[in-house]
Amino acid sequence: MGYSLWNDRLVLDEKVIIDSQDRGYQFGDGVYEVIKVYDGEVFTLNEHLDRFYVSAEKIKLAIPYRKDMLMQLLRDLVQKNKLATGHIYLQITRGTSPRQHHFPEKCTPVLIANVKENPRPLANFENGVKATVLEDIRWLRCDIKTLNLLGPVLAKQEAYEKGCYEAILHRDGVVTEGASSNVHAILDGVLYTHPANNMILNGITRNVMLTCAKEMGLLVKEQAFTLEQLKTMTEVIITSTTSEITPVIEIDDYVVGTGKPGEWTRKLQKQFNTKIPVAIYK
Ligand SMILES: Cc1ncc(COP(=O)(O)O)c(C=O)c1O
Repeated sequence: MGYSLWNDRLVLDEKVIIDSQDRGYQFGDGVYEVIKVYDGEVFTLNEHLDRFYVSAEKIKLAIPYRKDMLMQLLRDLVQKNKLATGHIYLQITRGTSPRQHHFPEKCTPVLIANVKENPRPLANFENGVKATVLEDIRWLRCDIKTLNLLGPVLAKQEAYEKGCYEAILHRDGVVTEGASSNVHAILDGVLYTHPANNMILNGITRNVMLTCAKEMGLLVKEQAFTLEQLKTMTEVIITSTTSEITPVIEIDDYVVGTGKPGEWTRKLQKQFNTKIPVAIYK
């Protein structure tokens, strides 16, 4: 039994009551974040909360709490649950009102956050994962971390049925991102990644990894690549809060590079490890 954050209060999970007329439930009218916790320490909390407020602003939802207060409440939540390594799930919806599409006159946003113990997927980091390519059928505001996740849910299900860890999405043959990750590829000492525009979510891990790349002297080009180009890349990487820096070693019926995580990927993983709380990595 654990504790949740419900608006501005920490309560036992079972005490949280969400109304059936909540607009998050009915329309997916809200935004969310997933934030990693290493050894009890919340990683890149500031960056996640910045994105949370920006996502909310983009859907015209005013979060009724100050960032510093929310930051403290999330740290308290981690402590109260004695969370070591895992993540925080945080979401806010526009609130409860009789169902109508346009915003209700009076509506108080509903915020919840909870935590989950979740070890780092070390075997994936070490061995790499398989991916499948699928059409990106999502809307055109992928920069917003909205609760509407049917596109990614359907893509993930198809990937799962094919025995793949992730779906690499494309629009008209141009790779955008993963169903729940950013996709990057390396060729001849250059790391290519889709520019952070409305076609992708600007991943926090993406940005940490791009900093790592620059620190290591790996050239970064924020330039989209096609599925044809993807096939010629020697290393393919997906990044996300929970997947960190995960090598992709197979895509549908072909092998990436040598079929093993590449040298740059290894270096990026090492550099990334220097940025997270020391106690948890070997
Ligand atoms: C569509 C999509 N792109 C990228 C990411 C990676 O973002 P982050 O590194 O901030 O977790 C996610 C994470 O959930 C995602 O859902």
